Amino acid sequence: MLSEELKEKFKYFFEKRGHKLVPSSSLIPDDETVLLTSAGMQQFVPFLSGEKDVKQKFGSIHLVSIQKCFRSADIEEIGDDTHHTFFEMFGNWSIGENKEGYFKQGAVDSALDFFVNEIGLPLEKLYVTVFKGNKDIPADSESMSIWLKKGISQERISEFGEEDNFWGPTATTGPCGPCSEIHYDRGEKYGCKMGCGPNCDKCKRFVELWNLVFMEYNKNEDGSFTKLPQRNVDTGIGFERLLALLQDKDSAYETDLFMPVIKSMEKSISYEENKRAFRIIADHLRGAVFLITDGVVPGKKEEGYILRRIIRRAIRFRKEILLNSFDDPLQEIIKKYSQWYPEINKDKIFSIINKEEESFQKTLREGIEKLNKISKDASSDELGKQLFFIYQSYGFPLDMSLEEIGITDTKDIREAFNKEFKKHQQVSRKGSEEKFGGLRKGAEGKEVMFHTATHLLHQALRNVLGDEVRQMGSDINKDRLRFDFSYGEKMTKKQIEDVENIVNQNIDEGIDVVKEEMNYQQAVNLGALAFFKDVYPDTVTVYSVGNFSKEVCGGPHVSNTSELGKFKILKEESSSAGVRRIKATLY
Ligand code: ALA
Repeated sequence: MLSEELKEKFKYFFEKRGHKLVPSSSLIPDDETVLLTSAGMQQFVPFLSGEKDVKQKFGSIHLVSIQKCFRSADIEEIGDDTHHTFFEMFGNWSIGENKEGYFKQGAVDSALDFFVNEIGLPLEKLYVTVFKGNKDIPADSESMSIWLKKGISQERISEFGEEDNFWGPTATTGPCGPCSEIHYDRGEKYGCKMGCGPNCDKCKRFVELWNLVFMEYNKNEDGSFTKLPQRNVDTGIGFERLLALLQDKDSAYETDLFMPVIKSMEKSISYEENKRAFRIIADHLRGAVFLITDGVVPGKKEEGYILRRIIRRAIRFRKEILLNSFDDPLQEIIKKYSQWYPEINKDKIFSIINKEEESFQKTLREGIEKLNKISKDASSDELGKQLFFIYQSYGFPLDMSLEEIGITDTKDIREAFNKEFKKHQQVSRKGSEEKFGGLRKGAEGKEVMFHTATHLLHQALRNVLGDEVRQMGSDINKDRLRFDFSYGEKMTKKQIEDVENIVNQNIDEGIDVVKEEMNYQQAVNLGALAFFKDVYPDTVTVYSVGNFSKEVCGGPHVSNTSELGKFKILKEESSSAGVRRIKATLY
């Protein structure tokens, strides 16, 4: 089934069942606390919360849409089979069960009807998950019995907690609720072992297809939940994923959405030879087309920075496939998507992307000028040092610099470069120690402890606030650690407590801290947090705290979390727009 047909089928299916088709809203949401639209329900938040009258606005309480979405949290994962920055989400809504809307039964009925009868997915391949309950919200036994009655056998229904089966809000407060997901079993050949099931993170056997959210709660500023004035249904299907499945492909990059784009880039290198680079470029250009269409221009902050980052990343990967220009893939993307989004403006897109490319090339030129001043005859030691300087000042990876100055015998230079890298880390640590009044032996111990506590804090923040939390900076002195991270809102008291508790729990468990050396890509593939990609050398050190935290870092760290004592957050405050700052200590 081609992409056009699938979209038409979805819209028609729900329109026929009394749903009003609502056009996609912009990627830039009305809600100022949310950076980019990441789900179909974003434009409906005031209606889901009961604040505005949905019927008055849309003429129906039943809605259907295909929404443009953008998720920037997973940028480093783009290139695998399933991640995208920009994607489209299918959704249907019932806003106000009290106004004759449907709730769980209706949502399940139409989801199964669409999957099984409309697009022909075999019922026996569908698995579902339901919410098992937590201290705030009871288990969703109603959904469980609905699925059973619909013929999903007990062994194909599993229960999960809030990480998997509680959805929302998109900001820190707002409508949310337990959810039930439909997964598709692609068969044992994709499985990791007998007995794995939905949400298995080790294999690709089960694909999550449809998320049915039963929105009946509002999450409040203090972290508590209250009932919404009405119960709603909010659903979402990742269009790309469903399309890949229906076209029997492992990845949406191999469907009709992307294949013409990818083919247009196969000049000297084939897609098979370097899938990752092709996919990154295709993904990032598509994302850029949509951000520009919704009015974003490259810049230093927020969505402007995201746009800049994806354009520059695409330019860097373009080198890997020996492609000179984005003209052909951009033409293909625009051709494909203009049928659905006639507002796409080709001239504007080319002009903004070309301008950004010029500005990036200017930085590159300045760096290259510096590179060219380096004498090839200098000692390996000297070359390593100079190339380290270039990479620090202009973000040039070592490989790129070596290639640029045409050096092939690189072993000794690499060693010198890595030595310089390590030395630099030590120097900057020492610098901060000196700044804070000299380092005594006792204080050094504390510093190492703060280092490890910072990793625990980072992961705990991501658990509590979501994966959009990114490290933006950190600093340690003998009394406290400071940690800056991307997040748009003041943390609630409850969130701060939750973070403290998670860190302390990991300390109490006495977990070994394990150090491994590996290449950068391996580290990323293992899921290590690494937020300064452009500045890492080829070989990186990864520190893991059990299964809880894994991060690329120069160290040093304690060898077991029990050495840390007790963790306490002293202060949570704003650092700059979209960035929060935590000061914390150990005692
Ligand atoms: N809002 C829900 C999601 O994004 C449907 O998964």
